[in-house]
Amino acid sequence: MEEGGRGSKGWFVTLEGPEGSGKSTQSERLREAAAAAGQDVVLVREPGGTAAGERVRAILMDAGPVGIRLTQRTDALLFSAARVQLIDEVIGPALRRGALVISDRYADSTLAYQGGGGELPLDELRSVLAFATGGLRPDRTILLDLPVDVGLARKSSAETTRFEAHFDRAFHERVRAAYLSFAAAEPDRWVVVDGTAAPDDIFAALWSVLAGIPGLGPRLSGLLAAMPPGDPGRAAERMHG
Ligand code: TYD
Repeated sequence: MEEGGRGSKGWFVTLEGPEGSGKSTQSERLREAAAAAGQDVVLVREPGGTAAGERVRAILMDAGPVGIRLTQRTDALLFSAARVQLIDEVIGPALRRGALVISDRYADSTLAYQGGGGELPLDELRSVLAFATGGLRPDRTILLDLPVDVGLARKSSAETTRFEAHFDRAFHERVRAAYLSFAAAEPDRWVVVDGTAAPDDIFAALWSVLAGIPGLGPRLSGLLAAMPPGDPGRAAERMHG
């Protein structure tokens, strides 16, 4: 991870994308594969992951017909507050002990949704994010990109949050465009993966991103190579199969 963050030894990888991009499934597969390779790995998702963060999530996601009215600025601050708790309670300690931390969404979601979708000024949001994260930035950020209609159609009604119920298609188009512009502006950190590809191909692309991270890649392959024959784990099957 980069200097100025709160961790020191580990690696921090974030997954981003519009609605229905498959991040949650893929980040769970990554966690399983890294664990099977013997790597200390922690998977978190935003918003949530702490007692306080889950309470904040309940406010943020409420899609009820009389749902609480939140302004874009309130959204930005609540997502950021949940993030502070997650960094302080989970991500920071895990990085300090040398873990790989995979986060299903992070600060770039606030820039894409409240900045891109909600049209809040990005420079103001960046100040809020700097305060909330203490400068903790991911080593790599993977954008699972896909057309808005494809993503929204993938979500079942049971998964409907305020973000599908109360924000229109144009909002989600701006979210996607924002993500693509961030990825283009910072190519050393971002990797764009086609979210419409077959799940196994997406997984292979994501695994190769992990394998390419300095310090982590050699560790993952070294750990895999050190495993006893006949016990390759699902990770090895996926890597070589
Ligand atoms: P969730 O059901 O977890 O969706 P997903 O599987 O797409 O991550 O809901 C999270 C929603 O919150 C999603 O619509 C994106 C939105 N969000 C923001 O608007 N800003 C943020 O900073 C974060 C972390 C999420």
